[in-house]
Amino acid sequence: MAKNFEFDHPQRLSGMQLRNGYCLAPLSTRTARFSGEVSRDDCYFHEIHAKQVGMDIVGSAYVHPSGSTVTGSISVADDQKISGLHHLAKTIQGQGARAILQIVHAGRMTNRIATNGAPVVAPSTVTATHGKVDVPMTLSVDDIYKIVDQFGAATQRAILAGFDGVEIHGANSFLLQQFMSPLTNKRTDQFGGSLANRVRFPLMVAKRVLNVSQQAQQPFVVGYRLSPEEIEPHGLSIIDNLALAQLLTALPLSYLSLSMRDYNQMPVTQITDKSVRALFKGVVGNLPLMVAGGIKGATDVCQLEGSADLLAIGQQLILNPSWPSDLHRSKGQPENEISDAWQAGLPQSIFRYL
Ligand SMILES: Cc1cc2nc3c(=O)[nH]c(=O)nc-3n(C[C@H](O)[C@H](O)[C@H](O)COP(=O)(O)O)c2cc1C
Repeated sequence: MAKNFEFDHPQRLSGMQLRNGYCLAPLSTRTARFSGEVSRDDCYFHEIHAKQVGMDIVGSAYVHPSGSTVTGSISVADDQKISGLHHLAKTIQGQGARAILQIVHAGRMTNRIATNGAPVVAPSTVTATHGKVDVPMTLSVDDIYKIVDQFGAATQRAILAGFDGVEIHGANSFLLQQFMSPLTNKRTDQFGGSLANRVRFPLMVAKRVLNVSQQAQQPFVVGYRLSPEEIEPHGLSIIDNLALAQLLTALPLSYLSLSMRDYNQMPVTQITDKSVRALFKGVVGNLPLMVAGGIKGATDVCQLEGSADLLAIGQQLILNPSWPSDLHRSKGQPENEISDAWQAGLPQSIFRYL
């Protein structure tokens, strides 16, 4: 592969070498078995899509059945899942990519079909206004501590399964974000109200995951993904999330990942003329910043040089697993050209999302 961009070169992350800075963005392919075990389709999807990236982030593995975001999600909620996860990690690593498992709790953004009957839970009983969701039960303080334990246990299983790291899913309106947002967190105890109280749960999760990650015998990456802000009036503000990013930066995290619709997006709250990406880059300093959202081709990659360290690519890589090397052929050609290798077959379920 020609090396025109800084992302083409090997990168180092928490003592781990990556062959380049392109990452398969976390994607729920909804192809796991009903029990949450890794399926052949999961392995097939990642075998094809890990061929050229530095990191392949497996999307939304739930830490407890009540935290499953959709049917067909991968489970990391019990020890029986370790052998399937091991097979998936080995498949990804066999293609030369680092295998990262994104770990999630859906909170209120799910329903009892997706959770296989487990209760839907949330910081407060505030039902989501979109999606197929059930009315959530308010978590007790004991339950909150149990979920922290579940994130820790999930990390331990990811280590045992041979993954190179985990990404804490604090984005896309799932449980960690629900604790941050004044719209979904109406608690009056130590987990709600002030910003200092709303950051408590996400920070406890991050600290537990980092503590457990010390058990790994080899370098093990811990990333954190967040959505920069909520667009609803009185929703989670970018200021609050910048404060969270600052607190996370003080931990020994490996990277912070921004889940965006457009990598150039501006803050909804017009606090400055800086882009969202630039604001977070300013706060995290030397902590590697991963950026996602509408990265399509060479022009985008060029723009991101110097203001992002890792690029998470979703739809373009779904369409074309050879996207990183095709970047260098894209001048004068369609940037989302679909390779022949890809057309050999992709789990059909992915088309539901395109
Ligand atoms: C089919 C599909 C599934 C996704 N699943 C997840 C997920 O499990 N976890 C997550 O953090 N983001 C998920 N996303 C968001 C992507 O990681 C990414 O941020 C988004 O697609 C924007 O990047 P893109 O414009 O390159 O596609 C999903 C996106 C798609 C299209």
